Amino acid sequence: MKRTVAAVAPPVSSGSAASPSTGKDEGWYEKLYHMLLGNVPFSLILIDPALRVVSANRNFIEKARRTEGNTVGKRIREVFPDAILEFTQLEAKIRSVFDTGVGLPGTQMTYRAPGVPIRSYFYTVIPIKTGSAVEHAMLVMDDITEKLQLSAKVRMAERHLASVVESANDLVISTDPVGCITSWNSAAERISGYRSSVVRGQLLGGLCEIGRSKDMATIIKQMVAGGVGEFFAEINLIAATGALIPVDWSFSPIRDDSGHVSGIVAVGSDLVERRALEQHLYQSEKLAALGVMAGGIAHELRNPLSVSFSAAQFLLDPIDDPAFQKECVGKILQGIERSSMIIENLLRFARPPSSNQAETLNLVTVVRETLSVLTPQAKLQKINLIEHYAETELPVTGNANLLQQVIMNLVLNAYQALPDGGDVSVFTRREAGQASVYVRDNGCGIAAAHLGQIFDPFFTTRPVGQGTGLGLSICHTIVKQHGGVIAVENSVEGQGSTLVVRLPLMVSV
Ligand SMILES: Nc1ncnc2c1ncn2[C@@H]1O[C@H](COP(=O)(O)OP(=O)(O)OP(=O)(O)O)[C@@H](O)[C@H]1O
Ligand SMILES: [Mg+2]
Repeated sequence: MKRTVAAVAPPVSSGSAASPSTGKDEGWYEKLYHMLLGNVPFSLILIDPALRVVSANRNFIEKARRTEGNTVGKRIREVFPDAILEFTQLEAKIRSVFDTGVGLPGTQMTYRAPGVPIRSYFYTVIPIKTGSAVEHAMLVMDDITEKLQLSAKVRMAERHLASVVESANDLVISTDPVGCITSWNSAAERISGYRSSVVRGQLLGGLCEIGRSKDMATIIKQMVAGGVGEFFAEINLIAATGALIPVDWSFSPIRDDSGHVSGIVAVGSDLVERRALEQHLYQSEKLAALGVMAGGIAHELRNPLSVSFSAAQFLLDPIDDPAFQKECVGKILQGIERSSMIIENLLRFARPPSSNQAETLNLVTVVRETLSVLTPQAKLQKINLIEHYAETELPVTGNANLLQQVIMNLVLNAYQALPDGGDVSVFTRREAGQASVYVRDNGCGIAAAHLGQIFDPFFTTRPVGQGTGLGLSICHTIVKQHGGVIAVENSVEGQGSTLVVRLPLMVSV
């Protein structure tokens, strides 16, 4: 019987009798067999021991651009191009399947049918046996052209993505759901000084500043639990040199096909340069503020100096009164001491911060010391500076120099709101786990229209040359860096303003 694509007999015939178990006859099975062969998404060719095609399914006929007539009954070498036969050694392989009865392991081949672009196949040869004899061999060809093209595209996209990640200036790090590093880009290597091979597998939290590792672990845990979509935090990284590198992180979850979080991507920008620029800015603003206080400071120095001067003049003349002599010397010493204290305070204030590192501070001391520098200017402007400390200790973590700068800016603004004198009160207190500093004045107040702008850089209502408009914007940055908030508590035009700074209070252990 001639076997064609449309009528391919099953290789193993079971006779014409109906099956006792199913009640189906041979014709029914043959139809099923034809239907399966015709519809499977593979090219199937049944080959006899003389290496002739006994049957070929529709898939092969269509893909190879052949007809049944020039395929079925033809030898393999008449069906496949010579180049393929030579490259794949197909005939020898089919022969070996007939000889050994063992199927051919899957292999890849490319096949170009006339008039169609080259296609790639994954093929195997399966022995079809009746008893122990191999009656036929089945060549099964799976067209993997699209799959290969797809995986080439995926590889290209991966390479593209990898080169973007590698050329990024920011740290791009990925972790598994536990927080162990799975990738670490070149910028991360450059900034941290750690090679990717060294840190891979380590906990990302373990490379963060002591005290923040837990925060990093919590962020990752919350993201994996699906509670957080995206998260931003500033956490210092410990470099290979041991130095702390300030990094602004943005975390996002990596989701698998089922939507589960399978890891985290952390993109971090190195803040070292930004911090250095901020330092310059803070310093210039601080020196400008000291300029505002110059008059007050000069006045404050003049008093003790003139007292010392008069006392010294008395001593120029011979005096017989040892008690008076002693009093004069005492006045001179007091004057010198007072002047040196003013100068010392000033110098401490003007000095750039030795480091940006945070330490445990008493906010009350920070405020007291700042106000001691600001007192002379208050006197000069006929301002009554009132201090009130509800507690003696308000422990916070931060940088004293930067926090002094915040207080100084707020108090100077209050002074500037009182050109004809008035009251400025500064008070500190503990409030709901926070340390608060209030600066209140009964000056001009802030116009309602300006309330939303006063923290913007360069916003000022002062005449040109008298204010840069950076004071409050710097205060805002510093307070934010300290994990706190700064706000206008209350301001009424013509009546005065109250500004407040709230910082997280350190929990005593
Ligand atoms: N206590 C206050 N009373 C009234 N207005 C205030 C007060 N504090 C701030 N402002 C308003 O906010 C503006 C911005 O303040 P900010 O300290 O940022 O800049 P500035 O004081 O104008 O200039 P700089 O501080 O750089 O010398 C001020 O120009 C002023 O209009
Ligand atoms: Mg100001």
